[in-house]
Amino acid sequence: MSDTTLIMLGVLAASAAGLWAWRRWHYPSFWLVVAFPFVAISVRASWRKVALGCNLTKKRQRFWFTTVPGLVASTGVVRVRRKWQRIAVDTKPFMWLPKPTRYGWRVTLHTLEGQIPADYSDAAERLAHSWGIHAVRVSSPRPGRVVLSATVRDPLVRVENLPTSPELLKVIVGRLETGGPWIIDFKTVPHYINAGATQSGKSNLANALVQGLAPQPVALVGFDLKGGVEFTPYSPRLSALGTTRSECTALLDDLVGLMTARMALCREAGARNIWQLPDEQRPVPVVVLVDELAELYLMADKSEKDEIAKTSTALLRVAQLGRAFGIYLFCCGQRIGSDLGPGVTALRAQCSGRICHRVNDPETATMTLGDLDPAALASARAIPAETPGVAIVASQDGQWYRARSFYVSEQAAELAATTYTDRTPTWADIVAGHTTSPTDADLAEFLDSIPDPRKA
Ligand SMILES: Nc1ncnc2c1ncn2[C@@H]1O[C@H](COP(=O)(O)OP(=O)(O)O)[C@@H](O)[C@H]1O
Ligand SMILES: [Mg+2]
Repeated sequence: MSDTTLIMLGVLAASAAGLWAWRRWHYPSFWLVVAFPFVAISVRASWRKVALGCNLTKKRQRFWFTTVPGLVASTGVVRVRRKWQRIAVDTKPFMWLPKPTRYGWRVTLHTLEGQIPADYSDAAERLAHSWGIHAVRVSSPRPGRVVLSATVRDPLVRVENLPTSPELLKVIVGRLETGGPWIIDFKTVPHYINAGATQSGKSNLANALVQGLAPQPVALVGFDLKGGVEFTPYSPRLSALGTTRSECTALLDDLVGLMTARMALCREAGARNIWQLPDEQRPVPVVVLVDELAELYLMADKSEKDEIAKTSTALLRVAQLGRAFGIYLFCCGQRIGSDLGPGVTALRAQCSGRICHRVNDPETATMTLGDLDPAALASARAIPAETPGVAIVASQDGQWYRARSFYVSEQAAELAATTYTDRTPTWADIVAGHTTSPTDADLAEFLDSIPDPRKA
């Protein structure tokens, strides 16, 4: 081997190692500078074949310059006739230039006549396989256009540590598949339903909330009818914990009373909600974590019927008015079905935050995600058991995302709870913090404005 070949080989090996190291240590910049241009070119180059294979093309009449083989002349020379002809050709949807995103790329297409975005959603899986990438999501910013958002690798296989929370009642609990933060913000979305089978990551999310909210000036309340196994470790930071039905009922009564008192406070100050009150008058926000929601509605025997109806009404009232008066619900559950009674359905309607972890039965996914895009349901059912913490998250704007929570062990949440014990407001202080008590007329008017689920 000559010297130059050796040097060439050396340079090649060095640059390959350099690229590998770059990819390993700073994937985002590697993706942008090195990988994306190649990917963009290959996507554009393969678009005709891919569109054909995914049935996204249409036949169109075009003038085409063709060559028709003519007769073989006696001399042996083939005489070819050339002519313009109108023939049917396969046209592909027009594709703009792909733009890089953090975990993939995005491209706008012009739909062909007769196509709707659903045609593209139906073909999303085929597209992903054709390009050998993790997933393709389809959206339509305006009629006649669809945007394909491609994710090259699943960004949710590994998510790092819980960052500290930026604002009051806001916790970054994980990462969205787009690469953005998954934020639970009680001030914009006051109540949540968090569904999932056992071992799907529901408690992990509750742990993340406990860890994120512990340093903040908020009161945490736990409802844990599974004997308190989930929330007892966090009791140093909990202002109240209900582990039996009667305890929960009493706490809910307190919460309804608290709302009434806060309503009177707001009315007196001419405020529509506690956030419009001056800082020194504003009562502390209360976040209620419910571990197994169904337990609150399940009847062991007939004698519990009235108590359950009472609990269900109180919980619904908290959900209906809590937002204005700083009381927020986070309800976890394995099964959130209509079979649990009308109270659950009414409560569900009040919880605009929907989180669906891996579920066993399609019904729970349907109940949790409601009337979202069917693709969201399909995606929820496709969550593998190997990735606990992955969930479909619906936001208020009707958009849905795949997301994964940060791993927060029970020990980490417990540590946060004990570290911030001194920030725990006592329940007596919260409940008795108001000097004005509502009059009977106030109470009647307030309660009348809320429909009773039992009469619905
Ligand atoms: N985001 C996550 N990342 C990694 N592991 C997780 C995550 N969420 C949950 N896990 C793991 O999955 C297991 C089950 O989670 P858990 O929250 O207890 O489920 P559930 O409450 O739904 O039964 C736990 O052992 C936890 O270690
Ligand atoms: Mg659990």
